[in-house]
Amino acid sequence: MRGTHQFVFALAVGMFAATSAPAKLEFSPGETWLDTSNKTIHAHGGGVLLHSNIYYWYGEDRTPGGSGAVSCYSSTNLYEWKREGVALARFDLPRTDGQRAFVERPKVIYNPRTKKFVLWAHLEQRGYSYARAGIATSDSPTGPFKFLQAIRPVANTNDFAELNPDPADEKVLGSMFRDMNVYVDDDDRAYVFYAGEDNWTMYVARLNDDFTGPKLPAVENKTWAKILVRAHREGPAPFKYHGKYYLITSACTGWKPNAADCAVADNILGPYQSLGNPCVGENADLTYETQSTFVLPAPGSKERFIFIGDEWHPENLPDSRHVWLPLTVQTNGTFKLRWHDHWNLTNGWK
Ligand code: GAL
Repeated sequence: MRGTHQFVFALAVGMFAATSAPAKLEFSPGETWLDTSNKTIHAHGGGVLLHSNIYYWYGEDRTPGGSGAVSCYSSTNLYEWKREGVALARFDLPRTDGQRAFVERPKVIYNPRTKKFVLWAHLEQRGYSYARAGIATSDSPTGPFKFLQAIRPVANTNDFAELNPDPADEKVLGSMFRDMNVYVDDDDRAYVFYAGEDNWTMYVARLNDDFTGPKLPAVENKTWAKILVRAHREGPAPFKYHGKYYLITSACTGWKPNAADCAVADNILGPYQSLGNPCVGENADLTYETQSTFVLPAPGSKERFIFIGDEWHPENLPDSRHVWLPLTVQTNGTFKLRWHDHWNLTNGWK
């Protein structure tokens, strides 16, 4: 009898093990991606942090019926992700004028000085005019993150004197803050990139030593700068290669896909020069139906990068898909992005 129970138990464990991990260790862009518990991964508009040899993937938690604003997953191989739970809960987000804010495009960086994990996100309300940076911190990479403040990082009013109407209160509060990313440079200085001025102009601002706000006093072209001026770009995904700063962006067509651009600069504060669309092949003008959110240096290489995009399904946002693709450098220093139905960290670069 006991033997029978053991057999049934072993069979059940075997069946669970057989279905709990991805069948193959590979990326399948655009397919539903399951975590190690066989649940759909929800890390939309996300970013990845490598800390103590573990990758943490944070993103918009669109789990139907869930309480999460930001989710966290962990992995050691980038294919298999364990859900670590809710990093930042919805009920921890501020309420203003009777409305609870929501977050988009969360990213987390680690501050070696304070030993804190710092989360930045686009904090928003219905209508998309609230347009603030939401900042939260945690002692652990998996959270829970504690909400700290909602701000417009650059409280510069000069360029907004003529703004009329001014629905986002830019004259008083400074430029809007929408699609964003954070980047820690080799010298441990951190920067936030964000779509400002109703998405017309991208901003880059250096962060303070704690990474919890802008470096003060804020001085244009010294601690912050306007880049891609009046270019109407969003979805910023910065990365560094051979001492130069690259920035992949999308155009501004809401949830609909459009053509990407890759720009390059010698200085992180710019000026940035467009190198054109890095995508090649079918659907290149639509970034393969995705929008940029992050560029991750591939494990063990300074030459290889992974493009992370979102295939948004606006009619059913929780069904939006994650698209990871190899981003390869060309001999002339530009980057190319190619579609692969399936690829892995060995065969993807050919
Ligand atoms: C896009 C943006 C998304 C989301 C969407 C809402 O332009 O990249 O993150 O804000 O608009 O319509």
